[in-house]
Amino acid sequence: MSTLPPGPRGQFGAILGYLRDPLHCMVPMVARYGDPFTLPGKPPIVCTGEPEGIRAIYTADPDTLAPAAADMAVFLGDTSLILVGGAEHRRLRRLAAPPFHAARMRAHGARIIAITEAHTSAWQEGEVASIHALAQKISLDVILRVIFGLEQPAAMAAFAELLQRTLDGISPLLALFPALRRDFAGLGPFAAFRRRQRALHAALDEQIAAARATEPRADLLSLLVHARDDAGEALTDQELRDQLLLLVIAGHETTAIAIAWAFDALLRPENAAALERLRAELDALGPAPEPAAIDRAPYLEAACNETLRRYPLAPAPAPRRLLQPMELLGYKLPAGVGVAAGIGVAHFREATYPEPLVFRPERFLERTFSPFEFLPFGGGARRCLGAALAGYEMRLVVATLIRGFVLRLRSLRPDLGKVRAANAGPRHGVEVEVVERT
Ligand code: HEM
Repeated sequence: MSTLPPGPRGQFGAILGYLRDPLHCMVPMVARYGDPFTLPGKPPIVCTGEPEGIRAIYTADPDTLAPAAADMAVFLGDTSLILVGGAEHRRLRRLAAPPFHAARMRAHGARIIAITEAHTSAWQEGEVASIHALAQKISLDVILRVIFGLEQPAAMAAFAELLQRTLDGISPLLALFPALRRDFAGLGPFAAFRRRQRALHAALDEQIAAARATEPRADLLSLLVHARDDAGEALTDQELRDQLLLLVIAGHETTAIAIAWAFDALLRPENAAALERLRAELDALGPAPEPAAIDRAPYLEAACNETLRRYPLAPAPAPRRLLQPMELLGYKLPAGVGVAAGIGVAHFREATYPEPLVFRPERFLERTFSPFEFLPFGGGARRCLGAALAGYEMRLVVATLIRGFVLRLRSLRPDLGKVRAANAGPRHGVEVEVVERT
């Protein structure tokens, strides 16, 4: 008979630990139960941060794994790429992936810098601002332009507000406890969420209809509307809407959080040497460097990678349910059980990253980490579709802000993070004061 690895008995303690300290909640579990360990639930999820275990999950035949988060369909739609498996997943990936290639993303470099400058043009000495709030505005503008080609500020603002209101309506309680997703005669948080969601869907349907009615354009929506699969079939309106929603949701909050964490780390006094080295590298690029020159700056890339390592957005994103038994680190796991690559374990492994809680970009200059050791964007057949855009945007926004301002953190109290929808962002928003415009 197969036995699952040990783990906490009840779900409640694990969920509480996640809500209290989302970035580091898995480290004590490994200390207590070893690696791999099992998170209770339906299905139970076997989690590992061991590179060999992660390799086993990410290199398994994708047809033997299915997404384990199907209960999120109520938020994302039944045909969302992140919720479908097998041939349907392959089809949607083939249609949606080409516009996200790194080379295409580079076409947006100057615009990303311009958007960042526009959102900070009024900043003066003494100004107080939240880097998280700023980064949300920047990344939402970027994703709306990349996906919809939306240019007019009024159209962008209206859409951005609808989206933000819908996302804010997904409280961690609604996300974690499906039983709370009930409409109490039009009252309660779920009913309110549904109303906002309907308005957002109507706005998306309008965009889809407009893209269908016009000649092909360069934005992602247009590419998706005109794309055909191997059988010559186009995406249906629902498939289009579900993918657009996923891309906007997955594509802006995540990048904004990553940018905010970069400043939470770089502005701390203990990391002053890292900030100084980064500033010197960026200053050496001259007064108005091309986006490509910024993108090539090695210490900038190392600092962004170290941010993505030290502040994993989710400790174990996108669990997979086994459709066939799997051997994982000596355990014979039966079909039906879930498995997850524990980013929140892998990124804090002492053996891979000595002094793992210390923010030290130099690690990424001293050695190369395998995709099973450093995996901020997950891996395998479901690796993050927007990884190239996210990394590029993060480097350009961080560089533009560092080049433009001397900033000081308003509070040096450590920030343990706060769960926002599916991600862990900074609890206090990374509030800064502008010391100088440079
Ligand atoms: C710093 C920013 C980001 C981080 C850390 C991040 C991280 C991740 C992770 C860990 C996964 C799960 C991968 C897996 O299952 O192995 C994922 C999936 C995904 N991400 Fe991202 N992401 C980021 C930005 C973006 C952006 C900008 C977009 C789109 C514009 C995006 C779109 C997606 C999509 C569509 C998936 C689902 C892929 C699939 O199931 O096939 N992400 N992301």
